[in-house]
Amino acid sequence: MPIIPVSGRDQTWAALTEESAYVFGVLEEGRVVQWYWGPRLPAEALSEVVSETPGWIKTGFLDPDDIAELLPVDGGRRWGVPALQAVYEGGVRSVELDFDEAVSGENSLELVLRDRAHGLRVGLHLRLRDDTDVLERWVSVTNESTAPVRLQRLDSGSWVIPEQAGAVFLGAAGGWAHETQLQRGELPVGETTFGSRTGTTSHKANPWIMIGDAGEDRGRVWTVALAWSGSWRMTTQRRPEGDIAVSAGFGHEGLIWPLAPGRTLRTPPALGLFTDGGYGEASAAWHAYARAHVLPTPGEVRPVLYNSWEATGFDVTEEGQLGLARRAADLGVELFVVDDGWFAGRTDDTRGLGDWHPDPDRFPDGLGRLFDGVRELGMQAGLWVEPEMVNPDSDLYRKNPDWVLHYPARRRDTMRNQLVLNFARDDVRAWALDWLDRLVREYGLAYLKWDMNRSFTQAGPGDLLWIDHTRGVYAVMDELRSRHPRLRIESCSGGGGRADFGILRRTDQVWTSDNTDARDRQPIQQGFSYLYPASVMSCWVTDSPNAVTQRSVPLRYRFHVAMAGTLGLGGDLRSWSTEELTEARSLIAAYKEVRQTVQHGRLHRLFGQPGVTASAVQYVLDSQVVVLAYHPYGLTKQPPRRVRLAGLDPSAVYCFDDTRVHGATLMNHGLALPTWFHTGEDYRSEMVVLRRV
Ligand code: DGJ
Repeated sequence: MPIIPVSGRDQTWAALTEESAYVFGVLEEGRVVQWYWGPRLPAEALSEVVSETPGWIKTGFLDPDDIAELLPVDGGRRWGVPALQAVYEGGVRSVELDFDEAVSGENSLELVLRDRAHGLRVGLHLRLRDDTDVLERWVSVTNESTAPVRLQRLDSGSWVIPEQAGAVFLGAAGGWAHETQLQRGELPVGETTFGSRTGTTSHKANPWIMIGDAGEDRGRVWTVALAWSGSWRMTTQRRPEGDIAVSAGFGHEGLIWPLAPGRTLRTPPALGLFTDGGYGEASAAWHAYARAHVLPTPGEVRPVLYNSWEATGFDVTEEGQLGLARRAADLGVELFVVDDGWFAGRTDDTRGLGDWHPDPDRFPDGLGRLFDGVRELGMQAGLWVEPEMVNPDSDLYRKNPDWVLHYPARRRDTMRNQLVLNFARDDVRAWALDWLDRLVREYGLAYLKWDMNRSFTQAGPGDLLWIDHTRGVYAVMDELRSRHPRLRIESCSGGGGRADFGILRRTDQVWTSDNTDARDRQPIQQGFSYLYPASVMSCWVTDSPNAVTQRSVPLRYRFHVAMAGTLGLGGDLRSWSTEELTEARSLIAAYKEVRQTVQHGRLHRLFGQPGVTASAVQYVLDSQVVVLAYHPYGLTKQPPRRVRLAGLDPSAVYCFDDTRVHGATLMNHGLALPTWFHTGEDYRSEMVVLRRV
């Protein structure tokens, strides 16, 4: 896809994707402004969006252009949200950039700006890909002077969402055990900040926003997402005069990043997407982008896994795990993951983190026999690790107390009895890589669940660690994968605390939430689905009553909810009855028949509020259509009797059971749900699989 100069206009370009156009250019005083972002325009019309000024009336109090800038700086006539704040020697804060040059690459452009008096070079980068409407933007800042510069904010860029009547925002917010809950509403006039100060992406908010006046299958939607797994901020700025700006970047307020002479700081990408097809089309575009440009193994079908955490907790023994493994294998599980409790002294959460060798009491001969046993049962072997953490009660901490985030003469507050190892340090990363590499090699591991169970506190020395820790984690994962190309990694942070397009470059799936209650899971999964494809959404079927919520939900409903993502089991299979095991075996077999479509197909969120009212989701891939319908209530709240499908070929015929129906009928009149779906007890669910003939 091209980035072209706009004819008849100096220093003005248009980034054209199949569906969209993004027009921007340089004004006086080095201001780079966005002229237009929306549906694609004919080439000859592109110059028509460029006017004298993109903003409103200038007064003595406001220069409205700053809201339109790609990187509004703290300096000059600007009072909005700065995307770049620098403090030069002598306390000078006013950044004044001049446009220098445009450097074109293949499908990319860098606009180079310089603050000549202080030797700051700023690169505004834009890249397009051939097969997506997603625009990738990031910023690089280089100190070309001989004096240090301090950066107080450096966002990846600011985006303008054009004024639109009725526009609301949609985002995902929550907390531990209730991640990615959708929240929506009108953005207030003023500044609204979403973000995390925890050092991770966090449970509290997920780094994306959608803005528009849209429904699932109609309307204009603008989205900005940040590909970053540490602290982050996304600030919306709505002026009473009109447009909304969204500025997104890493770090949080108060951090000061020193930029030594000769050094460059580069931001993570902020991604922008416009679609005229509603939220459904926006999600489909993000999923396609993830598959094409983010995920390390997008073409693979994820195996059905078993995870031992809810069954055995810290009580991990060879015989106990093998007992679970035998049951799991018999059900059709393909990957067996031993979660926590396997390493030195780890009989509760007060000890062990940091001493990453099998517990000598429970595994005197190591884990070899256990994992050989797992493989003999026909499954791959996986293991839980938490490399960024250490318990003070560990040999590692006693030997290297300086390896943790800390300040001299400040407390080292523990949370879950643990401290954070500073992955910005070379020695810490080298240590982590060494034992992870050995572990994977020695036990032939196919899978690591990489967990991270606390937020940063007393995080010193130096504010750059807020960036470098995250990049350190990325680097260790990247190196580990390059040494073990068949290794797959699950990102976990107390459930879904680290799910984003940064971590997904080096992980294959995400542990969506520690809340495995099927009913609570439904809204969590729904929110997750807005950006991330079902292939990365790990979902386990666990015991009933649920360990977290104590709610009882039938096995079939639990399965059907988990089958909407990458299916796994996490219950204590030793306590499941013969009938339950039989039902589980057949549901796992049924999942294997549809998982290619669920994991890699086009998602349609058909109707309802998942977990609250009747609802249904649909996946389509090639000729297969999979519909999962849920109704959590009994007769008190009637579900619809038909569910209208989406995205089918209207003139094609689709068959299921012995029925043949046209796509047009299924999409307009609907697919009749079985009678028991409307008339039975609580928690009814159904999976219908159709095939285009
Ligand atoms: C938090 C994770 O989210 C759980 O799934 C489990 O792995 C525990 N940590 C183990 O300590």
